[in-house]
Amino acid sequence: MWGGRFGAGPGDIMREINASIPFDKRLWQEDIAGSKAHAQMLAAQGIISSDDETAIQQGLSAIHAEYEADGVPEDWTLEDIHMVTETRLRALVGEPAARLHTARSRNDQVATDFRLWVRVAIGRIDSGLKAFQSALVARADEHADSIMPGFTHLQVAQPVTLGHHLMAYYEMAKRDRSRFADCAHRLNQSPLGAAALAGTSFPIDRAATAQALGFDGPMGNSLDAVSDRDFALEFLTCATQTALHLSRLAEEMILWASQPFGFILLPDAWSTGSSIMPQKRNPDAAELVRGHAGRIMGSMTSLMVTMKGLPLAYSKDMQDDKPPVFEAYDLLSLSIAAMTGMVGNVTFQTARMREVAASGFSTATDLADWLVREHGLAFRDAHHVTGSVVKACEERGITLDAITSNDLAAIYPQLQESDLPDLSVEGSVASRTSAGGTAPVRVREEIAFAKKELEA
Ligand code: ARG
Repeated sequence: MWGGRFGAGPGDIMREINASIPFDKRLWQEDIAGSKAHAQMLAAQGIISSDDETAIQQGLSAIHAEYEADGVPEDWTLEDIHMVTETRLRALVGEPAARLHTARSRNDQVATDFRLWVRVAIGRIDSGLKAFQSALVARADEHADSIMPGFTHLQVAQPVTLGHHLMAYYEMAKRDRSRFADCAHRLNQSPLGAAALAGTSFPIDRAATAQALGFDGPMGNSLDAVSDRDFALEFLTCATQTALHLSRLAEEMILWASQPFGFILLPDAWSTGSSIMPQKRNPDAAELVRGHAGRIMGSMTSLMVTMKGLPLAYSKDMQDDKPPVFEAYDLLSLSIAAMTGMVGNVTFQTARMREVAASGFSTATDLADWLVREHGLAFRDAHHVTGSVVKACEERGITLDAITSNDLAAIYPQLQESDLPDLSVEGSVASRTSAGGTAPVRVREEIAFAKKELEA
């Protein structure tokens, strides 16, 4: 392909370090689509003949069928997917194939292919995240009233509803999807026609190829078009953020499945055994989702470091842009599917969750709020009085809701009334009706809204 000015071919190691076909063969469909659009435009502009175009189109369609049936041949001497396909085209249709690369370079070709590939990848991830959201909403619906402990510092803080907790992840996934959508929107500009870096002297029609490939239009600067990979980095930052969210849920599942918590039972299909301890039931899938988040973040870091020192325009370092993106996509897709499966099939041990929710004086804030509301104390003073009540309960080994009005009056003599606050966990969650709060009525509203969003 480029041997004209050389006396001898590259050495074995040179071939090996140069070859990207082992990984960039994943771009084959995008590469064929890009070549088809380019050939069509060349003929329409009178740059190649329509006979040549017909031969090229037929040849590319035949190659498409071959790759689909048998995979892409991995020939290191041909370096990459672009040369492998063009060489095959030459073998199939002869001389017209040699005209396809007019007014084009592998630099704009690969930038085009890669943008198209990432666009498809984002579409698939979005569907996966939507299924994940649906699983969360279905389980939240079942458990809008189930009570669990809410934690801060991993200490029991206040009771919340399980539906509320699950819907928190719905919101995270919603923002993740919107970040990916932004990325898809920004990347949807066509580099094709930038050629090697400077544009071309042929009368090409960049708007036509952009349109044929579903881009919003051509990129405005040929140097930028071939040299930036910000779209791939943006994809990787979106993937990393999503993986971090999944990893936090995975971490919670791991904790919840462990015996001291006992909040969930993972179904057999989502558990693994131990080769030595027959009783074990391990949450390996959740642990791997947590682990994969580290690798996805590593992919992002890897490409950032690759790009940070590169002068314009194309440098071969940029060939290394693809493996991290492919790896992050594969790991994230699998992680989303695994979390969707686990969320959908886990058994929540609601009695145990409720029991823990009632421990640790979790409704102390409700007592303080009651003192403010019913007895006009300033919150700071109510906080202090409640602290003394908790201390008294602790000394007597009783829970907060076992407190009597006499006990209260002993601590805070101004309290004459005999009425007592509802310090049950049910009363506590039911009272938290502020917008976005944990009360079952609010959670049901949130769920109804989410269902509409998912249908839209
Ligand atoms: N395989 C190359 C890559 O992925 C294609 C572009 C090669 N361009 C070049 N001038 N050598 O980056």
